Amino acid sequence: MQFRCKIKKLFILLQSKFKKVDMTKLERASFGSKLGVILATAGSAVGLGNIWRFPYMTGQNGGAIFIIIYVFCVMLLGIPCMISEFIIGRHGQANTARAFRIMSGDTIWSLIGYMGVLTGFLISGYYAVVSGWCLEYVWASASGKLLGDPAYIKDYFSTFSQEPVKPVFWTFIILLATYLIIENGVRKGIERASKLLMPILFILLLIIVIASCMLPNADKGIEFLFKPDISKLNSDVFLAALGQSFYSLSIAMGCICTYASYFSKQTNLTNSAVQIAVIDCLVAILAGLMIFPAAFSVGVNPDSGPSLIFITLPNVFQQAFSAIPVLGYAVSLLFFVLLSLAALTSLMSLHEVSTAFFQEEMLITRKKAALIVTISTSVIGVFCSLSLGAVDCFEFFGKTLFDWFDFVTGQIFLPIVGFLTCIFIGWFLPHKLVRDEFTNWGTLRGRFFHFYLFLIKYVCPLAILFIFLHQLGLLR
Ligand code: PHE
Repeated sequence: MQFRCKIKKLFILLQSKFKKVDMTKLERASFGSKLGVILATAGSAVGLGNIWRFPYMTGQNGGAIFIIIYVFCVMLLGIPCMISEFIIGRHGQANTARAFRIMSGDTIWSLIGYMGVLTGFLISGYYAVVSGWCLEYVWASASGKLLGDPAYIKDYFSTFSQEPVKPVFWTFIILLATYLIIENGVRKGIERASKLLMPILFILLLIIVIASCMLPNADKGIEFLFKPDISKLNSDVFLAALGQSFYSLSIAMGCICTYASYFSKQTNLTNSAVQIAVIDCLVAILAGLMIFPAAFSVGVNPDSGPSLIFITLPNVFQQAFSAIPVLGYAVSLLFFVLLSLAALTSLMSLHEVSTAFFQEEMLITRKKAALIVTISTSVIGVFCSLSLGAVDCFEFFGKTLFDWFDFVTGQIFLPIVGFLTCIFIGWFLPHKLVRDEFTNWGTLRGRFFHFYLFLIKYVCPLAILFIFLHQLGLLR
């Protein structure tokens, strides 16, 4: 009897040992190629921020002057912050929370990582709702529902977004698509999907840009985008550009850090950050070139805010191509397909932040982790969507739940995580460690290391502090 007990104990011990060995020996996933690294990370960066947010912000902030400052912010502030997340993610070879824990030696700084994961998680819910709207618009434009007078199209959006079922249905669909990609892993899921979707996105973008720029009076829109008017410059324009550059590069939400944990030791972090930033800027500017020439050609004001895409644009396309209605139909449809693809690749990265977290912290399979994330983000998505009008118990202090998610993640968590990451890298970590990652252990020259360190120590934290105070209304 005793012997049997001993055998049993031994078996359990062996089993637990095996489990442990299994976990530690489990090879960590990685991207298979340089192109995969660039396209997947650019896929995270290129999203609704480029095609939906950037054009209306450009419209509201004076056109060309905003773009110049924006590009400047991306180069001097966005790229160093992206490199910092690369350094932490690749060094940690783990989800964002654990990567910060490893980097900080389990000190209080690890909280930044947890906050990054939380920000990514909370954002995925409401980002999925807007991504779902894009799918509805693909469907609506394909079935010819987006034709009619401007008042009808305006109504279409407000009725649809306040409905209880349809937006929720599309939110589920986009989350399901994300799940199906994520559960396949880093190479077979994320990398393969990015390599397929990103080129399609570019081609669609170019087709619409060409169609839009060939319209009569398109040159007015092109001028608005490229001829700066210095008189429009003020501190608001500067802060708007700064905020947009961080959002557009997916900084401070755990995404960049998580993807960087799949980079190889040979990945050149500076070059990759520059390439991704260039792609992101290019897509944003091309999105402007797709929208403004068409808007100007029919005399529509481009500063109409967030509704620009869902209300103004279907009208603009319809009127601009009224001579050849088929073209109007095709452009509108392609545009919303493009928007949905951009949203999907960003949603994938947001989903991956939490999936990697659950998988590695709860020691469960990728499939299970992805399922937990999909279900919980669906719940957030449903509540956010319903708060827009279908149910009125989701309004607190004058803001809907949807607005709260946007406000708390984008205007509170994002700057805090971004600011603390800069302080952590610039002031807390030994410079040798940062330099080693920056130069791939001395195999690269790292010419810009000191410049990078200067930016991350002083310029970036101060700039982020300014946006934060400005957004909270404490700085005018
Ligand atoms: N960068 C994405 C965009 O431009 C938004 C995003 C933010 C995606 C944060 C992931 C994480 O739309």
